[in-house]
Amino acid sequence: MGPIIKNHKTAYIGYLISKENSGKGIATLAINKTCEMAFKKFGIKKINAAVIEINNSSQKCLLNNKFKKEGVLKKQIIYKNKRYDEYYYGLSQKDFKKKISFKNLC
Ligand SMILES: CC(C)(COP(=O)(O)OP(=O)(O)OC[C@H]1O[C@@H](n2cnc3c(N)ncnc32)[C@H](O)[C@@H]1OP(=O)(O)O)[C@@H](O)C(=O)NCCC(=O)NCCS
Repeated sequence: MGPIIKNHKTAYIGYLISKENSGKGIATLAINKTCEMAFKKFGIKKINAAVIEINNSSQKCLLNNKFKKEGVLKKQIIYKNKRYDEYYYGLSQKDFKKKISFKNLC
């Protein structure tokens, strides 16, 4: 989680899961727990995430946690010599839902 922008009570979230542990629901769970802590313990009111357009699994993790797509920066990112859009997702405290079960988690 970071950076935290204190004046606006907002923060950015990022995540990285090793290849051998992907697809088990770990990122979805970790995002949920981190958001819960940010909202309940640190007084954050809004959490944002930025994702390259082709990263479908990352976007799925955010959508699983009720993040909404809020904006697009066109051709913002260079990846393997090609330009891609960057999508911005946001989750406000009122939309947050604590997850209690994760279908893929072993
Ligand atoms: C993106 C990333 C965080 C996903 O982590 P994860 O623990 O595998 O995610 P989850 O298991 O919670 O899966 C979330 C969704 O993505 C899907 N998914 C995960 N890995 C996938 C893969 N390799 N191919 C297709 N779909 C995949 C899952 O099926 C799940 O969808 P569902 O809820 O419909 O079942 C992880 O792959 C990663 O660290 N990638 C490299 C770093 C990165 O991209 N970070 C995010 C930058 S914005």
